[in-house]
Amino acid sequence: MAMTLKSEDVRQEVTRAAQAATSAKDLMFRIVKLLHERMLKYNWVGFYMIERNSGQPPALVLGQFEGAMTPHTRIPLHQGICGAAASSGKTVVVDDVAQDSRYLACSLETKSEIVVPIFVHGQVVGELDIDSHFSAAFKDEDRALVEFCATLVGQYLEKNQA
Ligand code: SME
Repeated sequence: MAMTLKSEDVRQEVTRAAQAATSAKDLMFRIVKLLHERMLKYNWVGFYMIERNSGQPPALVLGQFEGAMTPHTRIPLHQGICGAAASSGKTVVVDDVAQDSRYLACSLETKSEIVVPIFVHGQVVGELDIDSHFSAAFKDEDRALVEFCATLVGQYLEKNQA
């Protein structure tokens, strides 16, 4: 049964998930499941990873996610809150998505969003995106937790990539 745990407990569970993960994809799967189940205001949790194909502009491609299917499976780096986080390399927190002209709607119920970039060797390779049905759902404690998860994935990719 889903229960509310303090973000510190979830952080420990995510740390254990990183130790048990068999691949980066498996780690991302475990993280989206954990965050979606344990953090009750996290209504959509997903990873977007940057695809760089020669001759084509880079794009954010939807990876592991928990929540309703989104129409945004591929986002150019200059679009959306997702694009803003990836191109600036900075966490973006939006308390009221209706007031942000960058916002690409995923669900009519979404009120607030956080997007945290993932770095490998100092380069943005993807991001962790979370939507909430509640306004201003992402406080400092949430930001710290989501940044912790994004850092873990970056470290995992660094260790397990050539
Ligand atoms: N809202 C995002 C698009 C992705 S969906 O939230 C899953 C954006 O504005 O970039």
